[in-house]
Amino acid sequence: MVYKDLWIEDEKIMGVTEAGAGGEADQTIDAKGLIILPGGIDVHTHFNIDVGVRSVDDFMTGTRAAAFGGNTMIVDHMGFGPTGCSLHHQWEVYKGYTEGQCITDYSLHGVLQHVNAEILEEMKQMTEEGISSFKAYLTYDHKLSDDAILQVLETLKAVGGIMPVHCENDAVIRYKREKFLAEGHTEARYHPLSRPGYCEEEAVDRMITLSETVDGGPLYIVHVSAGESVERIRAAKKKGDFVYGETCPQYLVLDDHYYEDDDEGLKYILSPPLRKKQDQEKIWEGLRDGTLSVVATDHCSFDFHGDKQKGKVDFTKCPNGAPGVETRIPILFSEGVSAGRLDLQTFVQVISTNPARLFGMYPQKGVIAPGSDADLVFIDPEMEVTITHDILHENVDHTPYEGFKVKGWPVQTMIRGQVVVKDGELQVQPGFGRFIRRKSVQRI
Ligand code: URP
Ligand code: ZN
Ligand code: ZN
Repeated sequence: MVYKDLWIEDEKIMGVTEAGAGGEADQTIDAKGLIILPGGIDVHTHFNIDVGVRSVDDFMTGTRAAAFGGNTMIVDHMGFGPTGCSLHHQWEVYKGYTEGQCITDYSLHGVLQHVNAEILEEMKQMTEEGISSFKAYLTYDHKLSDDAILQVLETLKAVGGIMPVHCENDAVIRYKREKFLAEGHTEARYHPLSRPGYCEEEAVDRMITLSETVDGGPLYIVHVSAGESVERIRAAKKKGDFVYGETCPQYLVLDDHYYEDDDEGLKYILSPPLRKKQDQEKIWEGLRDGTLSVVATDHCSFDFHGDKQKGKVDFTKCPNGAPGVETRIPILFSEGVSAGRLDLQTFVQVISTNPARLFGMYPQKGVIAPGSDADLVFIDPEMEVTITHDILHENVDHTPYEGFKVKGWPVQTMIRGQVVVKDGELQVQPGFGRFIRRKSVQRI
């Protein structure tokens, strides 16, 4: 291990010197044996989202869990509002959810429900106001057409923004769901069968085609789960396309055998669904070779003993989503770095630096460099922990990672020079987290 001194003044990093070579500090933290990295940035959460029922982590409990998990910032996907509403309508709603609530720093992605001249104009305005990404869904209630996507990509290219997109073919899902239900197949195990890997691959391929049509339409594919999608993204990147891919821990370490138990399987009803071991291998390879740039969580928590039970009689009635904001860093560190699947450099890029670049926070966030915010996670690489629901701070009654043994744990989190979590205790009040005005996307 290499020991250095890291200097912080007020909220900013001043520099890094050889150990013991600098001057006097007012305060020191002894981090011997710990690895200090840029704080985690989770750019895919759904706190307090209303999907007919409301997710159980709000911005206070969600960002609190994020901080315990070594994160210093989150970027949440705003949920849908009333049909026909403006982009600013949802931003106003989310100001009500976030202001005075957050522990970590935060931002929001705009959400596209329909596209017309007013929405395109609002995208330009909101980019100037600090929100430079707008999410499109290809399934669910407000799915966008290819024509609409082309207009969005054209606008984002002009304003320096980026379009996160949920890629699944809506017609395939509806066809399969209706068929299974008509046959009386209502159990959780039919959830993955109703959303096969090719249904994601087709949508990924179509979005890449649209990005190419716009000649560099800025595309970010969220929660990549299928091996076939990784191959499509790899081929597009080889051509120099403006396409980036995100995956999540659940697609790296969980697989579709979790659906075999009709009761427990409800915990794993999330979209896209868990896949096969072969898909996991392709996703790890995608992280290693830079095909996939980000590991986020898609944290969207519903209680197993609460709303998840709606899926007991019919899997299509189960609110989709799983928690994960607190376990992203330990799982990726353990299964990636400790297990020898990822080097430390790639780990830092996918949990912090790349999200900061792609979503317009770099170099304020995502790097340890003079002038950057002093946002740090301290990881004990030797600490062994068995993950159980009761050691976590998420406001949900289960974790999909119950019983997972990990090596490497985030033991301290610092945001803008302030210790936020230490010795298992929260050190700040809700409202400490600040809204971060984001700038243009920086290509990696
Ligand atoms: O199942 C999931 N992922 N729920 C959250 C919404 C989404 O599709 O990202
Ligand atoms: Zn999604
Ligand atoms: Zn999501």
